Amino acid sequence: MAWLQGGSLLDYTDEAVQDVIDLFLNETGERYAEASVRHLPIPIWDANLVLVDLEQDLPRTIQGVFFGTPFKENIVRVAAFVIAAKHQGNDHGTEAWNRFNKEVWMKGFRQVQLEVKAENTGAQRFYQRRGLTIQNELNGYYQSGLGYMMRGPLSPPKD
Ligand SMILES: CC(C)(COP(=O)(O)OP(=O)(O)OC[C@H]1O[C@@H](n2cnc3c(N)ncnc32)[C@H](O)[C@@H]1OP(=O)(O)O)[C@@H](O)C(=O)NCCC(=O)NCCS
Repeated sequence: MAWLQGGSLLDYTDEAVQDVIDLFLNETGERYAEASVRHLPIPIWDANLVLVDLEQDLPRTIQGVFFGTPFKENIVRVAAFVIAAKHQGNDHGTEAWNRFNKEVWMKGFRQVQLEVKAENTGAQRFYQRRGLTIQNELNGYYQSGLGYMMRGPLSPPKD
C-alpha cells in the first residue's frame, strides 16, 4: 500500500468519486453527495493523498484519502482523513499525517484544524497525540449528532 499524490477531484472518474463516498460512509457513517466530493477545494500538493495498492491493476481502488486545504492565515484544515477498516492500525495514517505536516510546514502553515464526530474517540486520540485539542462543539455540522472542532500547532519536520 502507498500514499500517492491525488489529482484534482474535478478530474476523478465517477468510480473514483464513488470510492471516496463509500469510504466516508463505511468508516465515518457520513453520506456525501457526488457533487460535494467533486467540489472539495483541495489543491494538488503533498497534503492531497490517496492510499492505493500498487499491485492492483489500473484503475486502482482508493482505499484511503487525506485531503488538506489552506484555511486562513497560517492555518491549514484537514477536510477529510479516512482509511478503509482493513488497512487501519498499520501506520498508514501516521505516514499520511507526517507527509502532510512536512508539506504544509514548508508552505508556511503553523496550525492545523479539523472537525471530528464527538463519538469518534479513536480519531480524537490520534489527533490529541499529535498536539491538537478540542476547541469547541459543532452542532448541526454532522448529519448524526455532535461534533468537535480540534486545532493545534504543527511541528517542524524531523528530516
Ligand atoms: C483515524 C485514522 C485515519 C488513523 O489512521 P490509521 O492508519 O488507523 O492510524 P495509525 O495506524 O497510523 O495509528 C493509529 C494509532 O493507533 C495505534 N494503533 C495501531 N494499531 C492499533 C490497534 N490494533 N489497536 C489499538 N491501537 C492501535 C497506533 O499505535 C497509533 O497510535 P499513535 O496515535 O500514538 O501513533 C483511521 O483509523 C481511520 O480512517 N479511522 C476511521 C475514519 C476516521 O475516524 N477518520 C477521522 C475522521 S476526523
